Amino acid sequence: MTSFKTIEQHLIELSSQYPQIPGNITNILYNISLASKMIRKEIIVAGLQSQHESGTTNVHGEHVKTLDLTANKCLIDILSAHGQFSYIGSEEEDEIVTIESETKEPYVIFFDPLDGSSNIDVNVSVGTIFSVYKTPEKWKTNDLHPGSEQLLAGYVIYGSSVMLVYTTGNGVFGFTYDPSIGEFLLSHENITIPDTPKYYSINESLYPSLSAHEQQTLDSFKTSEQGPLSSRYVGSLVADFHRNLLKGGVFAYPSTAKSTEGKLRLMYEANPLAFICEQAGGSASNGSQNILEIQPQSIHAKTPLFIGNSSLVNAFNKTTKTSK
Ligand code: F6P
Repeated sequence: MTSFKTIEQHLIELSSQYPQIPGNITNILYNISLASKMIRKEIIVAGLQSQHESGTTNVHGEHVKTLDLTANKCLIDILSAHGQFSYIGSEEEDEIVTIESETKEPYVIFFDPLDGSSNIDVNVSVGTIFSVYKTPEKWKTNDLHPGSEQLLAGYVIYGSSVMLVYTTGNGVFGFTYDPSIGEFLLSHENITIPDTPKYYSINESLYPSLSAHEQQTLDSFKTSEQGPLSSRYVGSLVADFHRNLLKGGVFAYPSTAKSTEGKLRLMYEANPLAFICEQAGGSASNGSQNILEIQPQSIHAKTPLFIGNSSLVNAFNKTTKTSK
């Protein structure tokens, strides 16, 4: 049931309950909630705008939507104005952005400002995903740490309602935005992934290029003696992950012949969702290694991703992969 606890009240309580969480972390979370209100304002009228394409491509070669750029600018402006950041890594920026800040505690935030934005034209849920680390005062190129060192991770889903879900390693909390009062209210306390999974989410057109083991795993979901899982896939990571987190299930985006490293990004997609999933009682892997233990090689590194109920993630895990 929705409480009347605002995100501000929750964050004040969080700081007194867990004094080890730096005050800056709660401020950062608050500022992300502020940015997400502004991004939401743009998303809800996106259908009225004829111009969706910005005419540019990002570092992954994907077509950038105008809303991707708006969301990116909004996050960078708000986070830098509040001075808690020294460095920002975004899907829409080729390199790390350095922020002029007087903070004594430097942080780096990685984000995908608008995940799933190819779905904007058809009114499907999209999201913002973020991940925060402590960092040395002077950023060195590729001073990247495994996801296990995240201090804060979360996402905002812009769907039939807007929700912000986050973890600092003390459970997973979800807030639903009430536009009539302009507040995020605590709606999901201590989220845990249900023990009995319901769904598997994968782009089924990849089936021919999956390994034999992955194909068998997928086949087993359809014929399981405990009752087959249902297939659900929208092609917007935040939406597919969010459904499986609340209802139980697994999301899979393996490596393929076309995308040998997988498609999803380690720093601003896989790591933050893996931190949330583990905190909710699930797990995440790249098929052979826990996502949170991977040493990142670059800001925009990609990874195969299997995430959700541990039993289903483990079913995909294999030490030796058969050839495609
Ligand atoms: O970030 C990339 C993304 O848009 C994810 O949100 C989504 O899960 C995936 O790509 C969909 O990829 P595909 O269209 O290949 O299924």
